[in-house]
Amino acid sequence: MAKEKTIYICTECGGTSPKWLGKCPHCEAWNTLIESIAESTAGKNRYGSQRQGLAKASEVTLLADIEATDMARTPTGHEELDRVLGGGIVEGGVVLIGGDPGIGKSTLLLQALDSLQHAGLSTLYVTGEESGAQVALRSRRLGLNGSRVLVLAEIQLEKILATLEATRPAIAVIDSIQTVYSDQLTSAPGSVAQVRECAAHLTRYAKASGQSDGAARGRATCIVLVGHVTKDGALAGPRVLEHMVDTVLYFEGDTHSSFRLVRAIKNRFGAVNEIGVFAMTEKGLKGVTNPSAIFLSQHSEPVPGSCVLVTLEGTRPMLVEIQALVDGGGPSPRRLSVGLDRDRLAMLLAVLHRHAGVACMDQDVFVNAVGGVRISEPAADLSVMLAITSSLRGKPLPKGFIAFGEVGLAGEVRPAPRGQERLREAAKLGFSVAVVPKANAPKKSIEGLTIHAVERVEQAMEVVRSLG
Ligand code: TYD
Ligand code: MG
Repeated sequence: MAKEKTIYICTECGGTSPKWLGKCPHCEAWNTLIESIAESTAGKNRYGSQRQGLAKASEVTLLADIEATDMARTPTGHEELDRVLGGGIVEGGVVLIGGDPGIGKSTLLLQALDSLQHAGLSTLYVTGEESGAQVALRSRRLGLNGSRVLVLAEIQLEKILATLEATRPAIAVIDSIQTVYSDQLTSAPGSVAQVRECAAHLTRYAKASGQSDGAARGRATCIVLVGHVTKDGALAGPRVLEHMVDTVLYFEGDTHSSFRLVRAIKNRFGAVNEIGVFAMTEKGLKGVTNPSAIFLSQHSEPVPGSCVLVTLEGTRPMLVEIQALVDGGGPSPRRLSVGLDRDRLAMLLAVLHRHAGVACMDQDVFVNAVGGVRISEPAADLSVMLAITSSLRGKPLPKGFIAFGEVGLAGEVRPAPRGQERLREAAKLGFSVAVVPKANAPKKSIEGLTIHAVERVEQAMEVVRSLG
């Protein structure tokens, strides 16, 4: 194939340059030029042609006249994975799955491919990171003997596309998108330009594979892209990857504990913020169907600085322990959080000072969500505050204590969605005391649970003091 001309496009202003420059000649921004393939047909810009590739031009139709056919889903056979996918894989769908190295992406996908292959689907596993022998070794370890999954060890995009054309699998996994490179670009594999270009080509392939062009083409290919995550938790490569694909899943969890969460960040075919919970065993990842209590550490007696939160992940309430350590700091005290937002922590400390008179100005404050979960919902605020106060005072919260609720800058405690469900789950697991926002207090009492409804932060502190 003849090498196409490459140009450099500025990510800030969209200006182009025939060669790489440190500074964009159009908007004078630094380090924004990214290599890209120049479109050979004059007068048609690159994005125009790309859009054409993704969807065939069709006539304008009334919304009401369009038949809303539900996407046919094929369950992967792993209930927890199906839950985050919204029921299973979709024909012609593109899934991006991200996560830290060693968290279990390759393991889970190999297991899923094997189950799908048993269900009679043709599957292809493209590995760019490991050799075929290494993949085989893993599959033996997973007990997938005699697996009929096709394996291709290849990193060149054009060859991968040719193999996809030739084998037409129902599902193909590209492990990982960062190792794939296209001949058309001179940038190194893993660079923004390569990742973007390769992902765009593969997405186009998935979308086009279903469109029948005369001959019956059979099933469209579902493509799963594996992506690495950078140190600060974002998918390496451009955010544009997330826009291109239909579904974005993230693996979370502490590689030192055996539990793993898979979270849907975006899903064009299902609900987002649904999570799947897995445990890493010596035989691969196993779904955990009742995960509500796995993120609690086992203290025989309550310890200072620990507060249990009921968080709602997707449709399932889960209990997560929040730990805080407040310790005498130096002239510039540190605020560190693992699994929780750091800016939010700074805000909570300010509210704590202003409205509850708890000052941590000269203290280091560390906050951690146990088990490597990431908590993004504001309903964690109250537990974080109570854990911090408990650590500062050196006094544990009562046994069987839980709290949740969002805290505002004015010191008000706002309700969390689906409070009743959270409280019922806590009661089921044997928790006996709860501090919750007033609007979340149930009308009927819940057996075994004493509920203290509060409207303000200072009130919550008062309740806790009276309990201790
Ligand atoms: P892997 O799927 O290779 O991670 P990723 O593709 O996300 O980088 O996961 C490898 C880790 O999982 C490795 O540390 C070993 C562990 N593991 C098990 O504990 N049990 C198993 O059966 C397998 C296959 C891996
Ligand atoms: Mg891997």
